[in-house]
Amino acid sequence: MTDTSYSSEIAAAAAASGSSATRGFIERQSAQQLAESTDQARISRLAGRAIAALNDIIKEERLSYAEYNALKLWLIKVGEDGEWPLFLDVWVEHSVEEVASSHRQGSKGTIEGPYYVAGAPQVPFGGAIPMRPDEPGTPLTFQGRVTAVGGAPLANATIEYWTADALGFYSQFAPSIPEWNLRGTLSTDADGRFQVEAIQPAPYQIPTDGACGQLISAAGWHAWRPAHIHLKVAAAGHEPITTQLYFPGDPHNDDDIASAVKPELMLDPVDDGDGTRTATYDFVLDPA
Ligand code: DHB
Ligand code: FE
Repeated sequence: MTDTSYSSEIAAAAAASGSSATRGFIERQSAQQLAESTDQARISRLAGRAIAALNDIIKEERLSYAEYNALKLWLIKVGEDGEWPLFLDVWVEHSVEEVASSHRQGSKGTIEGPYYVAGAPQVPFGGAIPMRPDEPGTPLTFQGRVTAVGGAPLANATIEYWTADALGFYSQFAPSIPEWNLRGTLSTDADGRFQVEAIQPAPYQIPTDGACGQLISAAGWHAWRPAHIHLKVAAAGHEPITTQLYFPGDPHNDDDIASAVKPELMLDPVDDGDGTRTATYDFVLDPA
């Protein structure tokens, strides 16, 4: 999309999405997390290495002043558009997640992305995720089981579930969508089982009308993520996991802009024969 073809409505939507992702992230950061990340020697080492890597690239690539100024302008715009969460979650978070989860034996995690909201309404076993009466898309029953690494079922585990709608918009990050649309919190029964009636999400394009979109089009990249279900699974005494599940055959499973697809996270949905589908996935949690 070029500057001149911007619809002001879409531009406003992206700005709102970026600034609510930025605000939400700031609000979620606890004093505890910040305190843990302020060791002076560690900061000096990490910031020093990042700056050195950038300087190496500049010298190796013989960066011009025109390119330097374009970079400076673009970095300013990322902040103005509220797109630092977007930028980091798309191009950086997957490596952080890989490091953080490398010791795990249980189910794979992947990136959280910018659109998690805590406190989604509880959905009873077999109930429907909050959605509009005419919610577009294919109805999807999502079900499975949560167990410990040794196989013991985990009762009262919580599963936070969130997806974009069929147009690729997340509630609370786009206008005119009910607050908790396609977001819910499930619990497992005594046997560790859960089940919810939802809508199969569609492939999703990250917002293209801000600084990140400008980079994507200037570089000739694409903005697509394959269709995905976001989940956070937690049970007492176990390590919580943040993950996403994907659908076989999606054209972007092999070139996800956010590099967040793993083979273990592929669903195997079956057609129920009446226009609805059922996907089953079992989660295995490591001990805390
Ligand atoms: C982004 C969006 C997502 O829905 C996601 O899962 C990961 C990243 C993003 O726009 O940055
Ligand atoms: Fe997402």
